[in-house]
Amino acid sequence: MTHPLLATTMLAFAGLPALADDAALQKEAAGHFKPIPSMVPAVKDNAVTRDKVELGKMLFFDPRLSASQLISCNTCHNLSMGGDDNLETSIGHGWAKGPRNAPTVLNAVFNIAQFWDGRAGDLKTQAKGPIQAGVEMNNTPKVVEETLKSIPDYVARFKAAFPNEAEPVTFDNLARAIEAFEATLITPGSRFDQFLEGKLDALDATEKTGLKLFMDKGCVACHSGVNVGGEAYYPFGVVEKPGADILPANDRGRFEVTKTADADYVFRAGPLRNIALSAPYFHSGKVWDLKQAVAIMATSQLGAKLSDKEIEAITAFLGTLTGEQPRVELPILPVSTDRTPLPK
Ligand code: HEM
Ligand code: HEM
Repeated sequence: MTHPLLATTMLAFAGLPALADDAALQKEAAGHFKPIPSMVPAVKDNAVTRDKVELGKMLFFDPRLSASQLISCNTCHNLSMGGDDNLETSIGHGWAKGPRNAPTVLNAVFNIAQFWDGRAGDLKTQAKGPIQAGVEMNNTPKVVEETLKSIPDYVARFKAAFPNEAEPVTFDNLARAIEAFEATLITPGSRFDQFLEGKLDALDATEKTGLKLFMDKGCVACHSGVNVGGEAYYPFGVVEKPGADILPANDRGRFEVTKTADADYVFRAGPLRNIALSAPYFHSGKVWDLKQAVAIMATSQLGAKLSDKEIEAITAFLGTLTGEQPRVELPILPVSTDRTPLPK
């Protein structure tokens, strides 16, 4: 085994700051970040009940929410693969390629708002978007309601999930059920969270160096809190705008939401939980290598040129943000009836 003093000296020789005090590092980090809770969080105006979660899970996996009856939420937010599709930009109805990269649904409940531009205030508002989007599921609320009402098991499950309502099978309640299920898609227990909670050997020396750099260089100014991001909006290119290959000119981000000049090319700081699972990166999905994404952030957001060692250390730290993936049992969906609208 390498002697600790020698290891420290070797790190210093490698051009990285030596870490004198793990406890101090843990304390500093705990001032910026919060662990993912191990309990399902409460959701505003939507009690997360067992019946709602179970129904929401079925809806999340049900391709009959799409006009083609081929595409489910899970198509683009694959829960076997980190909650996204690992494509540059998503492919939806009629093989249409959408304009943006799909973010993960994992831990999305902790983001300040949904979508790269934050245009949906919460997950129930968000869920109604893709079902109707032409390049995603291309359906209408009317056809979705008809589909659900044609399937007796769904009608019974909506009644159980929304017991006090006379007409429980609605597009709004579908969105509420999906939101309740999504609230369960959290990933506690990452090595970083273990470190935050006091297990000082949960990170190795390089990862600790990466964490220190992440804070000292200023990444933490925009990526902090429980999701290590996802809390506020910033221009992509605060110091130096990336080229059009990475920041395409036709996507002006929050400008389309607020129509104010100060929102031009402003996006939500990416939540970095499970980031090692969700390549490619940025709203354009143009960057496949996490190290390259780190280097781009340093130049575009901080005006800093990081050394290869620094980039490697920060990337190693980002790898410790991968938590326990939710164990989701594949739902068996109720069969269509002769009243169910046919695929288009
Ligand atoms: C964004 C859930 C269907 C592609 C999101 C987000 C959530 C979500 C929660 C925001 C995450 C964040 O901002 O961090 C759902 C649900 C669906 C569904 C519940 C089913 C009802 C789909 C499908 C596709 C897709 C079928 C692909 C065809 C995307 C893309 C974004 C996104 C590209 C980012 C769009 C933007 O920022 O403008 N989805 N999704 N989603 N989803 Fe989905
Ligand atoms: C996105 C890391 C500094 C704001 C990202 C992504 C990574 C990352 C990996 C991609 C997320 C994804 O594709 O899901 C870092 C690192 C930093 C840093 C390692 C320090 C070297 C900053 C700072 C700001 C910032 C200082 C704010 C001034 C953003 C924004 C996005 C983003 C707005 C979304 C960009 C987009 O539209 O695609 N960051 N970041 N970041 N970060 Fe940072």
